[in-house]
Amino acid sequence: MNIEQIKKLIENWDLDSNSLTKDKTQDIPADISHLLDYLNVTIDLLERGEIRIVEKSDNGEYNVNIWIKKAILLFFKNAPLKSWEDNGIQYYDKFDYRGSDKSFRFLPGAIMRKGAFIGKGTVIMPPSFVNVGAYVDDNCMIDSLALVGSCAQIGKNCHISAGTIIGGVLEPAAAKPVIIEDNVFIGGNCGIYEGVIIRKGAILGTGTIINASTPIYDIQSGKVYYSEVPENSVVVPGGRKKIAGKNEFYLQAPIIVKTRDELTNPDKVDLTDILHDI
Ligand SMILES: CC(C)(COP(=O)(O)OP(=O)(O)OC[C@H]1O[C@@H](n2cnc3c(N)ncnc32)[C@H](O)[C@@H]1OP(=O)(O)O)[C@@H](O)C(=O)NCCC(=O)NCCS
Repeated sequence: MNIEQIKKLIENWDLDSNSLTKDKTQDIPADISHLLDYLNVTIDLLERGEIRIVEKSDNGEYNVNIWIKKAILLFFKNAPLKSWEDNGIQYYDKFDYRGSDKSFRFLPGAIMRKGAFIGKGTVIMPPSFVNVGAYVDDNCMIDSLALVGSCAQIGKNCHISAGTIIGGVLEPAAAKPVIIEDNVFIGGNCGIYEGVIIRKGAILGTGTIINASTPIYDIQSGKVYYSEVPENSVVVPGGRKKIAGKNEFYLQAPIIVKTRDELTNPDKVDLTDILHDI
């Protein structure tokens, strides 16, 4: 089977009724065991980085490969639950976990589900978790207690500091995952959710939380951004005043305090190559 055949089967499969839709094609098998074979191949392709949940088009737009997300949903729906033991502890799940092929460092206590791609020279520290469909490119640091949610996309040379949550999204299948572009530094205890894009070279200070509804204020230009942190922005957690009747409140609002430049203290954000040597 090739990628086009797999794609065709998955696109024609009805998630709800669990069979081929009425525009079924004659040349693809229609039973669940065949479907599972196709889904397993899809998950292997994802893990090897040969297919990706999100692709960047020539005009810079990110497009979601809906059929791959649908494949993951179909796997959750149809794969048998299995039980296994490791170090005396019983586990029970549908997805296997994956290890390192020695192209990246992966320490005991960290967990990666099958179908997660990890690039060369990346370091996965315990106890972080990288979920199915995630793509973590070369030379990244996924530090302790970080979560890389299902389908989240992380570019090259990114630092995801301890305690940071990169949210995952599986449903609806068309929804964009969180996308972190190349050379981004995300400080400790940050949270990025709901398809937010962090553009190249941005820096997020400790504790910055952004979802699709969060206004991000640029202190210099006065612009307000939603769902996107512009290239090379330095963002720190802030607040904005909101008056409701006689009451004053402060809602959290990340602030772009400056652009990454020679003023940004390199000791605070630069990564050392030593960590990524294999
Ligand atoms: C964002 C960061 C890189 C900025 O560092 P910097 O370039 O030296 O910038 P500055 O310290 O000049 O900060 C610029 C402004 O933002 C403010 N600021 C910086 N970080 C802030 C934060 N986390 N919360 C609120 N305000 C912050 C500074 O007070 C300063 O404001 P001011 O001009 O009114 O004094 C740094 O503060 C940071 O958060 N680093 C990440 C640390 C981390 O989490 N590491 C994880 C591994 S240990």
